[in-house]
Amino acid sequence: NLQYTLALLKPDLFTQPHCVKAVLNEFIPMNGLKIVIQKTVSWSVKDAQYFYAEHRGKYFFQRLTDYLSSGPFFALVLQGPDAISKWRKLIGPTRPDKARIHHPETLRAHFGLTDTRNSFHGSGKRGFFVY
Ligand code: CMP
Repeated sequence: NLQYTLALLKPDLFTQPHCVKAVLNEFIPMNGLKIVIQKTVSWSVKDAQYFYAEHRGKYFFQRLTDYLSSGPFFALVLQGPDAISKWRKLIGPTRPDKARIHHPETLRAHFGLTDTRNSFHGSGKRGFFVY
């Protein structure tokens, strides 16, 4: 089942070039995923609010949208067999502290900082997000 998915390497990761390199050159290819588009993006608060519209009204919405508009980050399109679920499995649970306990092999366990600054995003069932 060949799929495409949108992956974000969020602003906190972007400021750590050696971490970005490990993700791009090791974690992604070693998990059978291929980077077909790689773009540096900078979002306004409005861009972030639009992207995360499904979370509007939640207590962390402002934190989340401030964070994603705080600086440049990478947007990737990944391709591979079951890319949507594979990438989400690879990034692990939302909270890096939980990830470190229960899923230490995941990207958020390795690189994530907090609930909000969790370094990665993986698109859900619909997979692709068109800009
Ligand atoms: P992401 O997978 O991009 O989807 C929604 C984002 O909201 C999530 O990663 C986190 O960055 C943030 N988020 C989700 N739940 C919480 C929470 N309980 N507290 C703070 N931020 C959260």
